[in-house]
Amino acid sequence: MKKRSVVAAIDVGTTKICTIIADVKDNGTPRVVGVGICPSKGLHKGLVVNINEARESIRESVRRAEQASNYKVESAYVGVTGRHVTSMNNHGVVAITRNDRVVRPDDLKRVLASAQSVKTASDRRLLHVIPRGYTVDGQQGVKNPIGMHGFRLDVETHVITAAVTSIQNLIKTIRSLGIEIEDLVLEPLASSEAILTEDEKQVGVVMADIGGGTTDVAVFKEGSIWHTSILPVAGYQLTRDIAIGLGLPFEIAEEMKKKYGSVMPVYEGQGSTAPAISKDGHGVNYQDLCDIIRARVEEILKLIMLELPNADYEATIPAGMVLTGGSANLAGLATLGCEILKMPVRIGTPNDVYGIADVLRDPAYSTAVGLLLWGTKHDGKKQWKSGPFSGLTQLATQLKKLFGSNNNNKQS
Ligand SMILES: Nc1ncnc2c1ncn2[C@@H]1O[C@H](COP(=O)(O)OP(=O)(O)OP(=O)(O)O)[C@@H](O)[C@H]1O
Ligand SMILES: [Mg+2]
Repeated sequence: MKKRSVVAAIDVGTTKICTIIADVKDNGTPRVVGVGICPSKGLHKGLVVNINEARESIRESVRRAEQASNYKVESAYVGVTGRHVTSMNNHGVVAITRNDRVVRPDDLKRVLASAQSVKTASDRRLLHVIPRGYTVDGQQGVKNPIGMHGFRLDVETHVITAAVTSIQNLIKTIRSLGIEIEDLVLEPLASSEAILTEDEKQVGVVMADIGGGTTDVAVFKEGSIWHTSILPVAGYQLTRDIAIGLGLPFEIAEEMKKKYGSVMPVYEGQGSTAPAISKDGHGVNYQDLCDIIRARVEEILKLIMLELPNADYEATIPAGMVLTGGSANLAGLATLGCEILKMPVRIGTPNDVYGIADVLRDPAYSTAVGLLLWGTKHDGKKQWKSGPFSGLTQLATQLKKLFGSNNNNKQS
């Protein structure tokens, strides 16, 4: 199959939409050629609640990325989040009946299909079936069984399902812009792709993307995904707490949080009595501001830990916690995390991204960069079927098709 050379990703976040377009080199490394970021409207806790508003925000974000890159987005990898997403670990098994007993790619397909045969309610749709590890004739921990000999092939999978209505609103919104969906990717999986190291995934780690409307959690163990979940609490609640607690309009509370917010009780250089002042002159006590933020952040960190399938943290996640998402920009967050959770905590920023990508080196863009990396890695292995791939074409080619030739060019 011919390798596609351009990939687009759209992160439809609760507070911002981020579109990335990248060229993919022969070695499989994406090089960013266009980024479009704009505030999002019509979304609540990661879900589309107003299709018209959401469409206009996505349109603007895509337009900016297209303008920067001179590519036209015809299809894209798109993130999915929200409380409606559920996950479970499942198991599949098949017999290898051919005479030579050698495991072939077809057997892999069959065993994955057998692991997909979970009972999915009619209002839910399978989003991902991710193989976590294979067992050939009782030999566990096999990552790639192709070529091995055996009578029986087992697979452990992580199965993720989503509510049909919730994803249909997202699909409808994107398609109404003439953009086909290459694949829907669960956002915590995308963020993990951008910020976790292979070592962390192998040893055991929990990743939490604390965004505006949701905190997306993914737990990895022995190199594979083990658990995913979405919490409906994040930066928006922090701002609301400040607004209510200090009697400020929401926008001023948001500004104060970003400008002065910190979760560490050491108010270095600020003086605990010095007021924090907003652009339009609202003044609040700095210590009160930080105390409110800290209380909610502690709660979010504890909620993340409650999502873990096993309370033996030292054995389950020796590599600790990696925090990302826009709210991971809060000053002192990693230190507070280490202090209260008694485990290593670091902030994950998508640094391994090339091209015109300076703006993306911020925890807020982990999902968008992760979607791009996911798209590059899983090219051609679409899990969610959304119709025929239509690819991306350069604007110049499009224009040529429209005006330039007397051929009977058809859009694919
Ligand atoms: N410096 C900062 N300090 C504190 N919070 C910040 C800072 N910068 C951004 N944030 C917060 O990050 C949040 C937005 O994060 P992000 O861009 O990851 O969310 P999103 O992807 O739009 O939403 P979601 O993933 O929840 O749907 C907002 O609540 C914003 O207030
Ligand atoms: Mg997000």
